[in-house]
Amino acid sequence: MAKVGMREWIAAGRAIAAGDLLRYGSHSNFTNRFEQRLSALVGAKHALTVNGGTSALICALAAAGIGPGDEVLVPAYTWMATAAAPVAVGAVPILVDIDESLTLDPSDLESKITPYTRAIIPVHMLNLPCDMDAIMAIAKKHNLLVIEDACQAVGVKYKDRYCGAIGDAGAFSFNKYKNINIGEGGALVTSDDRLFARARNYHDLGSLVRDQEATFNEPAFVGVNMRATEIEGAMLNVQLSKLQPMLNRWRKRRAIMADTLSRSKAFKVSPHNDPKNAVSLTIIFDNESDAEAFAQKHGLIRVFDTSKHIYTNWEPILCQRTFHSKMNPWDWAKRPIEYHEDMCAKTLDILKRSCRVNLAARYPTFAACIKAERMVA
Ligand SMILES: Cc1ncc(COP(=O)(O)O)c(C=O)c1O
Repeated sequence: MAKVGMREWIAAGRAIAAGDLLRYGSHSNFTNRFEQRLSALVGAKHALTVNGGTSALICALAAAGIGPGDEVLVPAYTWMATAAAPVAVGAVPILVDIDESLTLDPSDLESKITPYTRAIIPVHMLNLPCDMDAIMAIAKKHNLLVIEDACQAVGVKYKDRYCGAIGDAGAFSFNKYKNINIGEGGALVTSDDRLFARARNYHDLGSLVRDQEATFNEPAFVGVNMRATEIEGAMLNVQLSKLQPMLNRWRKRRAIMADTLSRSKAFKVSPHNDPKNAVSLTIIFDNESDAEAFAQKHGLIRVFDTSKHIYTNWEPILCQRTFHSKMNPWDWAKRPIEYHEDMCAKTLDILKRSCRVNLAARYPTFAACIKAERMVA
């Protein structure tokens, strides 16, 4: 989680002093500037600031034309938003196991593809990038869209590219737990001109007012309001400047701690899909009771103990319950879809054996070294 302080306070004050908090038509251009900087950083042609990561996912799916009858592949370990987003556009989520990297298992992914699959949402959980080479190859082979959920991995690299800018579109969250933190917020990035134009249409009701007509060559369609304010735009610019230094610190810490922890015989450092760029660290035990005891002793979080991040706790999804019985995407699916608690047993087993290691990045390096040494002692 990134810290918010005096610089964000001043930035918010500047936006208020400018007197025009609606981003469209504002002369201060805080949000426009943030979008230019974000898209330049991640290497996407476009960025659109919205009011949350969930909104960014829904907006990307709507813009991509995903809807009733479509199946969207999502990991069984992610914040529930990833599985709820397809439902919001009328599609259904199909759950896929993770592997020991805590991200989508490419082999299970391929086995879950049906004639109705339209898209994959790989999730870069805990700043851990997915195996995007394998996922993009599967998507290409089966002609599927890839909408990356990079809500927990803003600024994280996978090989020479940034998470979120590898697939057809990417979603970022800027809520208080994320690498960029303004309390609540999000953004969508894409290099696809049409997807971007449709996303702009969707995030602002389809009103096609403001300056949106210029980029839209098709009839407007009904959307919702996901707009961001200039206060958010101003704070986001400050947070964006802090992102790389923070991730660099994490990367150095991760390398030092992984090196020490790899000496342990009690556990192993979990496999990572791009160790050179790694900014977060998890370890995995042979059995769940060892993981539980170790987590308790060293004050770590066992990944299984993180509530709605695990599919077995997604009650509204598992029960296929929506706000209105006639607006239920599972009724529109082209085949019966059923969920049950042990459908992704491999995921549950891995989560029960995995612990997240805090990199202690706010403390001097020696504190992190001592912590790692204690864990292998
Ligand atoms: C993996 C993942 N996807 C989506 C979201 C949704 O983001 P937001 O809370 O900004 O709507 C989150 C946020 O916690 C998340 O962790």
